[in-house]
Amino acid sequence: MTLRLSPDPAGLSQAAALLRAGDLVAFPTETVYGLGADARNDTAVAGIYAAKGRPSFNPLIAHVPDLQTARRYVTFNDAAERLAAAFWPGALSLVLPLRAEAGISKLVTAGLPTLAIRVPDHPVGQGLLATFDGPVAAPSANPSGRISPTTADHVFAGLDGRIGAVVDGGACGVGLESTILACDPPTLLRAGGIPAEALEACLGASLAHDLTPQNPQAPGQLASHYAPRGSVRLCVTDPTPEETLLGFGAVDAPLNLSPSGDLIEAAAHLFDMLHQLDAMGARHIAVSPIPDHGLGAAINDRLRRAAAPRAT
Ligand code: TXA
Ligand code: MG
Repeated sequence: MTLRLSPDPAGLSQAAALLRAGDLVAFPTETVYGLGADARNDTAVAGIYAAKGRPSFNPLIAHVPDLQTARRYVTFNDAAERLAAAFWPGALSLVLPLRAEAGISKLVTAGLPTLAIRVPDHPVGQGLLATFDGPVAAPSANPSGRISPTTADHVFAGLDGRIGAVVDGGACGVGLESTILACDPPTLLRAGGIPAEALEACLGASLAHDLTPQNPQAPGQLASHYAPRGSVRLCVTDPTPEETLLGFGAVDAPLNLSPSGDLIEAAAHLFDMLHQLDAMGARHIAVSPIPDHGLGAAINDRLRRAAAPRAT
């Protein structure tokens, strides 16, 4: 079911066609194999979470072929310019302000105003990005909680039958995920393929470190990023007249995450519909019950954060 594609022009154009069709394609980078999806396509990105069985919507890293392309999606400050010049292509992801018209799915950024972006240093990854000609969102190509894959066979072992294809480019050089750095001020968010010391030498300054799971830039921990302005009540089958219902399944509601009860569709719509509820001025939001399996667990995780008591 999952194709193994060779890293030649024919294989890469087949892989790019699958990405354009919204399918998932694993591909080698110098760090680990990434599970790629078109970063502009909500449904494709939601498919990443489904395939990995990821319990929550962590934001994802966008992959682009070069610095010029990255400028279309994010804005660079001086530190970021220097680091990109020194380390791209390479195992460094920079977290930078998302441009207003970037067109990146909110499922990639988890609704944050920033985007983690990098230029991979691998001929096959580069070949795929050039052939596809668009931004590719890619976490490591393993089921959630399992070890990151550094060969195509590792990817098949974890995800066979759940994704469109694997481009087999042999073993990854780095085998450790990219270093993640927030740029204002330069702050290490994840240790990875490029040592902090090398970044510090480049910047001529020491980095702040923020590696705790509760760090404010690890947005999965923060309720406020997912909370609409109105109050939120969950698991509601009988909304009051004051409440605006965010529906799921066959219910009568002004907004419905998925009338057919499809969890991938619901995940793709979630952040967008929370924004729409704000735009509508909804003061009291009720949400239909959503099954707690598969992507439903991630959707419910975000909705519980949205419904949690807030600091006022
Ligand atoms: O080497 C890598 O980085 C691999 C290859 C495929 O490129 N990708 C990877 O992605 O490791 P993933 O999804 O496992 O890690 C993404 C990390 C998460 O820990 C997430 O919290 C952080 O990046 N991240 C993404 N966007 C962020 C943002 N806007 N702010 C802060 N952290 C962000
Ligand atoms: Mg990972």
